[in-house]
Amino acid sequence: MRLLFVMDPPAAIKFDSDTSFALMLEAESQGHRVDHCLPSDLFLVGGVLHAHVRRAHMSRDPIDPIALAQGEDVNLESIDAVLVRTDPPFDSSYLWTTLMLERLRGKTLVVNDPRGLREANEKLYACHFPELMPETLVSAHRERIKNFVKQVGGRAVIKPIDGAGGEGVMALTQGDPNLRAIIDAETRNGQRVAMVQRFLPEYERGDKRILVLDGEPIGALLRVPKSDDIASNLRMGGTAHPAELDGDDRRILEQVAPRLKQDGLHFVGLDVIGGFLTEVNVTSPTGIQQISRLNRENVSARVIDWIKAKLS
Ligand SMILES: Nc1ncnc2c1ncn2[C@@H]1O[C@H](COP(=O)(O)OP(=O)(O)O)[C@@H](O)[C@H]1O
Ligand SMILES: [Mg+2]
Repeated sequence: MRLLFVMDPPAAIKFDSDTSFALMLEAESQGHRVDHCLPSDLFLVGGVLHAHVRRAHMSRDPIDPIALAQGEDVNLESIDAVLVRTDPPFDSSYLWTTLMLERLRGKTLVVNDPRGLREANEKLYACHFPELMPETLVSAHRERIKNFVKQVGGRAVIKPIDGAGGEGVMALTQGDPNLRAIIDAETRNGQRVAMVQRFLPEYERGDKRILVLDGEPIGALLRVPKSDDIASNLRMGGTAHPAELDGDDRRILEQVAPRLKQDGLHFVGLDVIGGFLTEVNVTSPTGIQQISRLNRENVSARVIDWIKAKLS
């Protein structure tokens, strides 16, 4: 196969934790050709999508894990699959990337489906399953948010709709003299909606990341926050621990999987705290290296094998 990864520059890649890198390494080791390009390397000639790509060679080298060869222009209809793996933000460039990738519909497999990427906001997607989420309010209105905090027992979490990696996640406590200031900062003085959620004290025991491929779980990981931090994200200093799926996780998967499939969200990461679905990561879900290490299993191979099976 020939696979193209549309992603961030290789300089941003950590060889021992990055999921895109693990997928690229696995694809190359299986003998597939792997190319890399940035979103800005995509170009349409009339209706035909091309990219200026560079062949990538991977190694577990801390300095230079992805070596890129000389670039060439290719018609993406001649590529077997495109993996869109750029990190958020979901900005206008990201939107245009998904719209340009529409030209491949029916011709080249795109993971995830560009329509699904456009439709699914990582925070708001969970609102399709209100019964699986903790009580949640999405609002820009200060008094409404303050009332919600009171309603859910005086403690909540507020997070930016376009946040990732734990950025901007803050605890709200009724009576805290900073309550108003935090709400105003998150909503930019009432100009932007934010997500406010009942505080789940279970977050201390960990935020479970469940990687889902074509509606099926392929591995899970528990991220335990530092004792003095609200965010469990590995990027914020959370630590990775092995995790099994329990009854709550299976119930969540059962309800979410059909919708994911319908939306072409082939490879996603669900975040589950205390048995509640808090987030559905679709843009560049991560955790595959940690899960592979903890479970002594090559989870990346399952993704590459799935692509191969899908194409044949
Ligand atoms: N309702 C909640 N109760 C307690 N902690 C939460 C809650 N929602 C999020 N968190 C904490 O914030 C972290 C990041 O939240 P999440 O919604 O997954 O956004 P992102 O990972 O995109 O920043 C979680 O890993 C968890 O530690
Ligand atoms: Mg998360």
